[in-house]
Amino acid sequence: MINDFKFKLYFRKSSFKKDIFSANILFEQIEAHKPKNFLEVGVFQGVTSRNICEKLNLIHQNQFKYHGIDIFEDANNILDDKEKTSKHNKISNPIKHLIYNVFFKADLNSLKSVKNLLKKFDKNIKLYKGLSSEILPNIKMSEIDFVFLDGGHSYETVKNDLYLILKNIQKNKVIICDDYDQKDYGVKKAVDELINNVTEIKELNKRLVKITT
Ligand SMILES: C[S@@+](CC[C@H](N)C(=O)[O-])C[C@H]1O[C@@H](n2cnc3c(N)ncnc32)[C@H](O)[C@@H]1O
Repeated sequence: MINDFKFKLYFRKSSFKKDIFSANILFEQIEAHKPKNFLEVGVFQGVTSRNICEKLNLIHQNQFKYHGIDIFEDANNILDDKEKTSKHNKISNPIKHLIYNVFFKADLNSLKSVKNLLKKFDKNIKLYKGLSSEILPNIKMSEIDFVFLDGGHSYETVKNDLYLILKNIQKNKVIICDDYDQKDYGVKKAVDELINNVTEIKELNKRLVKITT
């Protein structure tokens, strides 16, 4: 089944753009666990979100829910520096930049633009604009089966996001965190501290780590 699915970029930026191998690892996990209720923290331009919806649609024929959290802002320098989310709405390919940001004037990080990319799944998705620390307490975590945590990357933010998720998520659910291997990010420290509070912490590859609740 995984072979039927190909991660697409939709002419946008994604943290998986230069590492489709890691994207495939994430999607193998989705295939294995077949979550009906998915949460992505850190939607960015919606590329992974769209791929997740396509994948869940293949598995569940429209019977799934996707929740996505982001500040959905073009550039927030203080947050971007702290959370290591280098964002340049200026697309590196000059022709694509001209088409998307000059001709269409599309702010690809905006809620409107991401909603548009996901409109095929309008009935399945819920997008939340704001900081994860403010949004996560309002999400019914007991209904979530699978989390892809890829929002803020500072130690404080990852630790707090994981705390808010683990507080109410059920047992044997999956949280996959991105950027576990980035030495100057806080992901590894925040994840490793959970060793006595979760069922398993497993490195899927250098970059992705899987927490089983
Ligand atoms: C690395 S990008 C996410 C990439 C996306 N998951 C993908 O695969 O394309 C991180 C995103 O998290 C958002 N972000 C950073 N800190 C956040 C926070 N505390 N709350 C909500 N969103 C945050 C940023 O705005 C950025 O869009």
